[in-house]
Amino acid sequence: MNILIVQGPNLNLLDKRSKEHYGVLSIEAIHDLIVQKFPDDEFTFYQSNDEGALIDIVQTADLDYDGVVINPGGYSHTSVALHDALELCSIPKVEVHLSNVLSRDSFRKELITAKACTACISGAKEHSYLSAVYLLKSFAG
Ligand code: DQA
Repeated sequence: MNILIVQGPNLNLLDKRSKEHYGVLSIEAIHDLIVQKFPDDEFTFYQSNDEGALIDIVQTADLDYDGVVINPGGYSHTSVALHDALELCSIPKVEVHLSNVLSRDSFRKELITAKACTACISGAKEHSYLSAVYLLKSFAG
């Protein structure tokens, strides 16, 4: 499969963020792990802190990829516009969170973008991404 992995704001600084919530791996180490675990699949990694840039890549994802894994970071809880772009995207989409957003601040319990995704995985640290890729492959049969 040809899979797009999209990561939103502040996920480029994972090594400076809470290890308790997000685990010990940097964004590069997560990418390496995904490639290592799924050697037969093709991955494109895209990180941006910019809401519009995330919307732009999601808008065209169904032209170039078979599935999307997206961690919208803080935009998960706020972005109706990213939700709408995901809704327009006609390939399977799995939202992931490194931390267990349901066990954290109440404002993290509202998952606006996840409502437009096929599935959502939260709280398994880097394994959230691996599980999402597994799901996309399962959906594809
Ligand atoms: C996050 C959870 C969000 O609430 C937070 O704003 C992030 C990371 C996660 O992966 O656990 O930036 O999406």
